[in-house]
Amino acid sequence: MKAKSTPTHVHLETFGCQMNEYDSELVRSLLKQDGFVFTDERERADVILMNTCAIRENAHNKVYKHLSELKKLKRQRPLVVGVLGCMAQNLKEELTDIQPLVDVLAGPDAYRQLPMLIRSAMLSQVEGLNQKELAVDLSEYETYHDIVPDRNDGVNAWIAVMRGCDNFCSFCVVPYTRGRERSRVPEGIVQEARRIAEQGFKQITLLGQNVNSYRFGDWDFARLITAVADVPGIERVRFTSPHPKDFPLSLLEAVVSHPNICKQIHLPLQSGSDRILSLMNRTYTNKEYRALVDRIRTLRADIVLSTDLICGFCGESDAEFAETYRLVEEIRFHSAFIFKYSERKNTIAARKLSDDVSEPVKTDRVTRLFDLQRNISYERNREYLETTIPVLVEGDAKRSAAQGMGKSDGNITVIWDKCAISSQPGDMVSLAIYDASSTTLYAARPPVN
Ligand code: SAH
Ligand code: SF4
Ligand code: F3S
Repeated sequence: MKAKSTPTHVHLETFGCQMNEYDSELVRSLLKQDGFVFTDERERADVILMNTCAIRENAHNKVYKHLSELKKLKRQRPLVVGVLGCMAQNLKEELTDIQPLVDVLAGPDAYRQLPMLIRSAMLSQVEGLNQKELAVDLSEYETYHDIVPDRNDGVNAWIAVMRGCDNFCSFCVVPYTRGRERSRVPEGIVQEARRIAEQGFKQITLLGQNVNSYRFGDWDFARLITAVADVPGIERVRFTSPHPKDFPLSLLEAVVSHPNICKQIHLPLQSGSDRILSLMNRTYTNKEYRALVDRIRTLRADIVLSTDLICGFCGESDAEFAETYRLVEEIRFHSAFIFKYSERKNTIAARKLSDDVSEPVKTDRVTRLFDLQRNISYERNREYLETTIPVLVEGDAKRSAAQGMGKSDGNITVIWDKCAISSQPGDMVSLAIYDASSTTLYAARPPVN
């Protein structure tokens, strides 16, 4: 144990969705306020925290793998291990059984207690008690509205505008790990957007498990996103993840008409079969979803649409999968996240339905849908050839520091040679697209007329 004056070093690893990224920024802020110091190196840390995701089996496995790596570290020196986030909430019993690895468990609504939980766990280790510290109560009110997140550097800042989900899609664990829907005070959100602009961020992404069901008094999501987009200095506003059921015309009009709101909508479809959609409790039909896409495209033909799809949900027949395939072929999304159904404990599907599509059939369906979508994405991206588009510069390309990387308004990755185009992160540049793959647009300096 360190002397009292030596600060406690914390290493935080984040898994899962953007909401978890944001929550990790909240956790950093809460712990720094309390005197904790953060380190990027596991080896230097007195406390290792994992902010976890429970959405699918492979998300779980990833966390278990990381946890088992900590066993060795923990044998070598005093170390407090904490599991935060959705797995902590959902798998309290299972996780505390991994004796004696996990010392602290804190669910998504319990982060204010974290400094106290960590100190108690450290003390208990010194005393040789090795007691576990648990805080997994869900709250109907917690929005962390008064906590200024300790933001990651970059061009984008996240703001969680609502938390929780009341939709209870039958496959999904989120309503159990994140609790009931609650929206944050709008004035506080707009104030935070102003502060973000002053700090030099160029883009804000509004977050919520069900972001477009935001409601606070007279404020709905259309009003909120417009107010955020009106903040001077913010060039782009995005939002994720919306549900198709909450797209009134006012929201569509806000998106298509406000110059600072990106012309991009993520519209999770999940399945093209009405029977499966109903078993999933998605509350829309194939026809209604298609009508929404038509309404959006009538307002703005060049809008970029992406989606989420699940293959092999309980009882999905070949014919029902074919309906999904056909709808994807017909709608031609710009991109899609395609998942194998993964049964989650305690969900409605786990309790009432049978996970009866075999693993090879799930794999085959995912592969077929993936191949279809890759071709569509390729063709969609090639529609940008020989056009000049505004690109928000983010930094270096992942593969090579000799290349710059940014995003189009539609959130498509754009790459260019830095020796041909010089730019700084945060710059908005006009670039000519000369090549495209299914995932990336390749840009050059636009020709001078
Ligand atoms: N709140 C968001 C999505 C959250 S999870 C929404 O409703 O759109 C992101 C995606 O993970 C979902 O859209 C769904 O496609 C997928 N997903 C969720 N639970 C899953 C499960 N049990 N098995 C496979 N995919 C799942
Ligand atoms: Fe899960 Fe459905 Fe809520 Fe999305 S809307 S988080 S898929 S329950
Ligand atoms: Fe995962 Fe929880 Fe997000 S389950 S996807 S981290 S809301």
